[in-house]
Amino acid sequence: MSELANSIKHVASPLARQTLLNDELTRPVAGRRPVRILPWLQVVKIGGRSIMDRGADAILPVVEEIRKLLPEHRLLILTGAGIRARHLYGVGLDLGLPAGSLAPLAASEAGQNGHILASLLAPEGVSYVEHPTVANQLAIHLTAARAVVGSAFPPYHHHEFPSRIPTHRADTGAFLLADALGAAGLTIVEDVDGVYTADPRGPDGEKAKLIGETSAADLTNHKGSLPFDRALLEVMATARHLEHVQIVNGLAPGRLTAALRGEHVGTIIHTGARPA
Ligand SMILES: Nc1ncnc2c1ncn2[C@@H]1O[C@H](COP(=O)(O)OP(=O)(O)OP(=O)(O)O)[C@@H](O)[C@H]1O
Ligand SMILES: [Mg+2]
Repeated sequence: MSELANSIKHVASPLARQTLLNDELTRPVAGRRPVRILPWLQVVKIGGRSIMDRGADAILPVVEEIRKLLPEHRLLILTGAGIRARHLYGVGLDLGLPAGSLAPLAASEAGQNGHILASLLAPEGVSYVEHPTVANQLAIHLTAARAVVGSAFPPYHHHEFPSRIPTHRADTGAFLLADALGAAGLTIVEDVDGVYTADPRGPDGEKAKLIGETSAADLTNHKGSLPFDRALLEVMATARHLEHVQIVNGLAPGRLTAALRGEHVGTIIHTGARPA
């Protein structure tokens, strides 16, 4: 082969001679913090069970609050699955279906809640968008409208880890998306004031104390239930951008608005991301 042909075909890459399996060797190239794709974006996860399943009494005030927030923020609103997914898990598990078959079905239930919310916000120009649109065309949609709604489930689908109930559900999906987009924040809207030492609606609820501020690392050692998927704590540990999330009570008017303005009105959970 001539010298000329050799140089034409050569594509310079700092990783050309590197195995991609050794973090030490790839770190100088791959270890830098990625850019924030949508640094002005606020992501809000609306609970399926805690808000959507309660119907008009809970949904309409939240819709009204979101409507008022639109001039102030550009929002990606993601909905959880709620009761229909619980029914689906019950039937699917009884039939022995694997987690990878249940995950996309539960995700579609979360999508149904998203369609409901988007219909109510449609007069404001808000519509429901599918995962590929969230992944590829969010910027153009949020240039045309102040908010869009999507399913909070991550699209692991048939690649979901082998467990019985899918481990990566709506809270995990909302976090993965918000962090991947380099969003300004993620607020998780529930029907409790935040994370308590024990389920405030459980048998020992009266003794439960609200935890104002904590970290994903500390909550990993928390025994008992939490108001979000446990897998959320795992993905928070390796966050690239989001330094914290806030859990707020969507049944208390004004809490979501205050949280988006940076006020501490629920439980703040710090991630493993280091400050920029
Ligand atoms: N340690 C805890 N602190 C606060 N709430 C808790 C705790 N443990 C359990 N809970 C319960 O979690 C409930 C919220 O349930 P869950 O997270 O399943 O709803 P959701 O987020 O609306 O559901 P989805 O994942 O379908 O969107 C609260 O109403 C509360 O009773
Ligand atoms: Mg929850």
